[in-house]
Amino acid sequence: MNTNATPLLQVQGVSAGYGLMPVLHEISIEVRPSEIVALVGSNGAGKTTLLRVLSRLLPCAGRIVFGGTDITTRTPDDVFGQGLVQVPEGRQLFDRMSVQDNLLMGAYRRHGKAQIRRDLERMYTLFPRLGERRWQIAGSMSGGEQQMCAMARALMAAPTLMMIDEMSLGLAPVIVQQLTDVLADIRSNGVTVLLVEQDVQVALSAADRAYVIETGRVTLSGPARQLIDDPAVQQAYLGV
Ligand SMILES: Nc1ncnc2c1ncn2[C@@H]1O[C@H](COP(=O)(O)OP(=O)(O)OP(=O)(O)O)[C@@H](O)[C@H]1O
Ligand SMILES: [Mg+2]
Repeated sequence: MNTNATPLLQVQGVSAGYGLMPVLHEISIEVRPSEIVALVGSNGAGKTTLLRVLSRLLPCAGRIVFGGTDITTRTPDDVFGQGLVQVPEGRQLFDRMSVQDNLLMGAYRRHGKAQIRRDLERMYTLFPRLGERRWQIAGSMSGGEQQMCAMARALMAAPTLMMIDEMSLGLAPVIVQQLTDVLADIRSNGVTVLLVEQDVQVALSAADRAYVIETGRVTLSGPARQLIDDPAVQQAYLGV
């Protein structure tokens, strides 16, 4: 990790909410190329809201710079095309479509059939489970398999930055470990990761750095290893 690298994503003083209800208050975070950065916080802290803002599904005050471009007023389709891709909370697969068709949907904005085919096979190497089940209807798979499918679909968009909302939610520890291992692989292939997690233990084990969000504000940030040992984090989130 190069700590001097120009950030890939800069969120500067971002505030947002729903209607008249404010949710995010002057959030500032940054993600550098090839980092895994975690965003942690309890229910309702505003994590998903921040991802919606970053995907441009929700308007905001403040500034978002991605890959050197100010994307604050861009459309969701624009930023997706630029490589900012989200794995949504609850996976949101096309339930009645096969695994393979779900993955191909991820590539809908790309050209070059041969490269898309190669990437499809790469996904089946990264997630052998999906390879075995490529013709299965996505909605009939287990929670862990669905999460793999959602991550692979996002990767098929050839993202620069992949944002994953609640990767571990509802999954057994052994599956969560597999997914965490895949994150390391993804990163070594040049994809930067922003991981949103309620499970602070999972997030801090997988990430290089993390931000703690409480009621729409960043209250702590730093290297993940340092935060694991922080008494405030241990007391509030790690049950120590
Ligand atoms: N579509 C919406 N309309 C109105 N309020 C919303 C909407 N979505 C979220 N909120 C409110 O915004 C606040 C932050 O919610 P958000 O979903 O961002 O939290 P979160 O940190 O992702 O929580 P969780 O860990 O439960 O996923 C909550 O008070 C929630 O009730
Ligand atoms: Mg959420």
